[in-house]
Amino acid sequence: MHIRPTPRPRGFTTGTAIVAAVSLLTLSLVAPPSKAQMMMEKDAAAMAEDMAELPGMAQMPGMAQMPGMAMENGEVALPEGFREWVFIGAPLTPNGLNGGAAAFPEFHHVYIEPNAYAAYKKTGAFPEGTVIVKELVTLKSPEYDDGSRDEASGRGFFADDFAGIDMMVKDTQRYAATDGWGFFNYGHHKPPYQKTAAALPAENCSGCHTANADKDMVFTGFYPILRQ
Ligand code: HEC
Repeated sequence: MHIRPTPRPRGFTTGTAIVAAVSLLTLSLVAPPSKAQMMMEKDAAAMAEDMAELPGMAQMPGMAQMPGMAMENGEVALPEGFREWVFIGAPLTPNGLNGGAAAFPEFHHVYIEPNAYAAYKKTGAFPEGTVIVKELVTLKSPEYDDGSRDEASGRGFFADDFAGIDMMVKDTQRYAATDGWGFFNYGHHKPPYQKTAAALPAENCSGCHTANADKDMVFTGFYPILRQ
């Protein structure tokens, strides 16, 4: 009886095996990373940070996602982890106080990207690249006509569930037509939200901010920690 040798995957020779084994050995010998390697990694991180500050920079494929940075097609991704950013406030326009149909229903939880907040605290101005996210949050079901209900703390309005995302990104060159900020909507509904969105024209969003906002398109008057 003839036993056939197991066929080797094409291109896999004893030579390949030796090269693979040697590279594995080399890898285990050089770990932990040398000082030079660590410095290079640090430089790369610093460079990525610097690049994030360049206005109008397009997202490069494979690059770590910078919050608010436009992709090649001009759309901007909803940043991950925005709920861990600096929470600046929660304006509330309940349906119950707006004829049953508020334009932006219920709580608006507003967050600013932490690096932008640090810069704002120092200078009093929103730096290029500032990202502000506003998440809509519905109210627990009403017990009274005005939409309020009784809870252990008293009669009032209490958060129920996430219900939509609006976002602003400051880039005075890219979004010059909407007064220096790009405005994005990732859906006014429960999560999952849209992953990316294109900037909206002035009549959808920025027009009202231009006409009414307190400082550089932002309603800073509603956020005590942004008042200076
Ligand atoms: C009719 C006026 C109006 C329009 C239109 C409008 N906004 Fe606003 N926006 C406000 C007001 C007022 C606030 C602050 C108070 C609040 O949230 O109720 C606000 C707050 C925000 C905030 C939080 C930062 C801040 O300035 O307070 C973001 C982000 C935002 N809006 C994005 C958008 C986007 C995106 C659109 C379009 C889809 C939009 N807005 C359309 C009036 C408007």
